[in-house]
Amino acid sequence: MYSQMTQINADCFFEFYPQMTQISAEKETKTHRHNIICVNLRHPRTHQRVMTMILFTGLTGAVGTEIVKLLPEYGISARGLVRNVATNRGKAEALRQGGVEIVPGDLADEAAVRAALTGCEQAFLLMANCREQLELEKNFVDRARQCGVRHIVKMSATGAGSDSPALLKRYHGEAEEYIRQSGLACTLVRPNFFMQNLLHVAAAIVAQDQFFMPMRDGQVGAIDVRDVAHFVLSILTRPDQAQNTWEITGPELLSFHDIAGQLSDVMEREISYVDVPPARFKQSLQQWVPDDWYVQTVSELFELIAQGSGALLNDEYTRVTGRAPTSLRQFCQDYASFFEKG
Ligand SMILES: NC(=O)c1ccc[n+]([C@@H]2O[C@H](COP(=O)([O-])OP(=O)(O)OC[C@H]3O[C@@H](n4cnc5c(N)ncnc54)[C@H](OP(=O)(O)O)[C@@H]3O)[C@@H](O)[C@H]2O)c1
Repeated sequence: MYSQMTQINADCFFEFYPQMTQISAEKETKTHRHNIICVNLRHPRTHQRVMTMILFTGLTGAVGTEIVKLLPEYGISARGLVRNVATNRGKAEALRQGGVEIVPGDLADEAAVRAALTGCEQAFLLMANCREQLELEKNFVDRARQCGVRHIVKMSATGAGSDSPALLKRYHGEAEEYIRQSGLACTLVRPNFFMQNLLHVAAAIVAQDQFFMPMRDGQVGAIDVRDVAHFVLSILTRPDQAQNTWEITGPELLSFHDIAGQLSDVMEREISYVDVPPARFKQSLQQWVPDDWYVQTVSELFELIAQGSGALLNDEYTRVTGRAPTSLRQFCQDYASFFEKG
C-alpha cells in the first residue's frame, strides 16, 4: 500500500546520526526475551554501545506508560516532556523511577519544547486528542528542526488523511504532511482501535454486564497498546524500518458483538454489546464530557468504524517487531480485574 513511500536501509541510519559515521552498525542482535533485532551501535575506539537520547512526549498516557516499562529492554535513554509536574508528582516520580530524564513543560510552552528537544537526535510525538493538537504538533516539528532533531516518529491513526470525513483523521493527516514537508526524516505510526479503549466501558460492564456503543456491525483489527509501545521502540532502534508509514493492527477482525463474546468467555458470565443510535450515543457522551469538540470528534470516529473503516488487518506489526500481536482473549485475561464484579 505504501510502496511509493521511501524505504531506507540501515545505512541511512547515519543520516540521523552523522557524528557516528565511523561507527560500525556491526551486528544485529536478538534480545533473549523477545525476538527483537536491534542495531548495535558501537563507538569506533571504545567499542562501547552508543545510544543517543530520544525525546518522548505523552509518556504519562496509555501508550507512553507502556513505553516506559520497555525502555530498559530496548536499551534506550529517554527524556520526557511532562506537563503539570508540580501538581502531578506521582506521574513524574514513576517516570523518574523508570529512568526517564524529565523536562517539565507543556507542548504549548515553546521554551520547554526547545529545552526538551535540544541534544536529541530522534523524537517521538504523541498528543492526546484535543482542539489544539494540530497546531501544537506543527509547532513541535518546527522546534525539532531548529534544534537539530533528525528523525520524528509520530503517533497517528489508521486512515489519517486530509480528505477524511473525521476531523481527527484530518488533523493527523495534515500533521503527517507537515512533517514530510519539513525535510526531517519521519516515521508515521498509524494504529487501529486500541483494545484498552474497552477500559472506558468497564464500569458499565461491571454494573450491568452490558456496554453501549454506536458501532453497528463495524469490525476493528484492535491492537493492544502494549504492542503499540513495542512497535514504537522497535522503530526507534531499527533504522531499516524507519521512514515509512505503518498501519498496525492486532491479529483478528472483531465486531463489538465478537468482543462481548470473548469478554463473556473469559469472565465466565454473559456480557453483551448494545448498539445505540449515533445521536443517542452523542447525547449521553455529552452528559459525561463537557468538551463539545471532543464529543463531536469521538462521534465521528465511531461513525467511521460503524461504516467499516476499522476492518483493517495486516502483519506489519510482526514484520517490524518479530512478535505476534496480542489477541483480544489475552487482553481480556490480563485486564480481567477491570471487568470483575465487586
Ligand atoms: N485510542 C485509540 O483507539 C487510538 C487509535 C489510534 C491512534 N490513536 C492516537 O493515539 C494518541 C493518544 O495516545 P494515548 O491513548 O496514549 O493518549 P493519552 O492516554 O490520552 O495520553 C496523552 C498524553 O499526552 C500528554 N499531553 C496531552 N496534552 C499535552 C500537552 N499540551 N503538553 C504536553 N503533554 C500533553 C498527556 O499528559 P497528561 O498525563 O499530563 O495529561 C499524556 O501523557 C492520539 O493521537 C490518538 O489519535 C488512538
